[in-house]
Amino acid sequence: MRGERPMRIEIESLALGGYGLGRWEGKVVFVPYGVPGDVLEVEITEDHRDYAFGRILKIEEPSPHRVSPPCPVFGRCGGCQWLHMDYSLQLEAKELLVKRELRKFLEKDALQPIVPSDPHMEYRTRAKLRVAKGQIGFYQEKSHQVVALGHCPVMTSNMNKALLVLYHRLKDLRRVGEIDLFSRGDEETLLVSMKSRERLGAIHDLFHALKKETESRVGLRVLWKGKVSHLGPKTMEEKILGHGILVGHDTFFQNNRFLRDKLAAVVLEQAKPWLEGPVLELYAGAGTFTVPLVKEGARVTAVEGHIPSARLLKENLPPEAEVMEASCEKALEKLKDRSFSLVILDPPRTGCTPPVRQAIGDLSPQAILYVSCNPATMARDMAQWKEKGYRLTFLQPLDMFPHTGHIEVVGVMAKEGPEG
Ligand SMILES: C[S@@+](CC[C@H](N)C(=O)[O-])C[C@H]1O[C@@H](n2cnc3c(N)ncnc32)[C@H](O)[C@@H]1O
Repeated sequence: MRGERPMRIEIESLALGGYGLGRWEGKVVFVPYGVPGDVLEVEITEDHRDYAFGRILKIEEPSPHRVSPPCPVFGRCGGCQWLHMDYSLQLEAKELLVKRELRKFLEKDALQPIVPSDPHMEYRTRAKLRVAKGQIGFYQEKSHQVVALGHCPVMTSNMNKALLVLYHRLKDLRRVGEIDLFSRGDEETLLVSMKSRERLGAIHDLFHALKKETESRVGLRVLWKGKVSHLGPKTMEEKILGHGILVGHDTFFQNNRFLRDKLAAVVLEQAKPWLEGPVLELYAGAGTFTVPLVKEGARVTAVEGHIPSARLLKENLPPEAEVMEASCEKALEKLKDRSFSLVILDPPRTGCTPPVRQAIGDLSPQAILYVSCNPATMARDMAQWKEKGYRLTFLQPLDMFPHTGHIEVVGVMAKEGPEG
């Protein structure tokens, strides 16, 4: 197919990862930035046995769902893939994708309508900015090329103000590699972490400029060759369902400020039938779900492998709560003779490793509550538990990542209800 003359393809749907999906003589062609309903002139860029990737040469007939992307670098920046599509189509596409990935597990009525992000702009509280050749921005998709950015429509307003401060000062700062921005949902605090060998005078100036321009309390961390300097706070208190939770520069925290409470509420609600017995929570982070669960009276054993997050998790919980500062693989070896009514897990995109998958099945809890940002790895992990008699009885997609092809889902696999 590759090298053939351009072909005319109609985009039928959207695929996981965000690509438009069309067909050429029956073969699936994934087309970045293709929108369902588009008729496109496409050139093949990668050809495989069962599928190919293509690049848009010309939009012959635009889909009625195309909108003007509110970002001048859309199409080059790797951050968003769907800013050129109306939001209702994005939601529809995500529901379909979840259904497609998890179809073979779904019990009748299990799939819930997707929860939208409202609003769906300025939702993002965390970003890793890249710096190269005097430019600051995000990486281009699948490349280490920096796409210079003056404003990002999905980041909070104080992060955008910080971006401008950093942009104007870059030329004065020596050896800056990457910069992490992490804002509190209400923009009261902004944590900034950067690698730089700049002298402290210039760092102080930057710190004061960030405070003035962002109108937030600022915690600035500078890392250079194993040395760490801090100006301002090292952590900040976030809120989940009204409960305070401390998070720091390196802690994972749910990125969508408008939906994180809803996500925690779904987890809590779905966990409720099993909270009489002991609960095991794997990949707990700083306690987004653990804190509300413990406040609800649950007896939780929480496992987190990233040491700074595990330390904050301990601080966020009452002293009697059981926190294991270990990888899930190691913790599960130690826990193999214990009994749990419910296992909650929220692994990274890669899902569980085979020993974790196996150990969860061997623990044989009444239910497994799986929070995932990747339905494909979730499906792979669930297949093993399905063989052990678990059925997917509840599946809730949430649009934690608007304008991207990513989806968050909460799934419950139950062996039998708490009533028996
Ligand atoms: C997707 S985050 C979820 C965190 C938390 N549930 C939340 O919503 O804030 C995954 C967490 O798992 C931790 N993690 C990743 N791999 C791990 C492993 N093998 N063992 C233990 N923790 C791990 C990461 O440090 C991170 O905090």
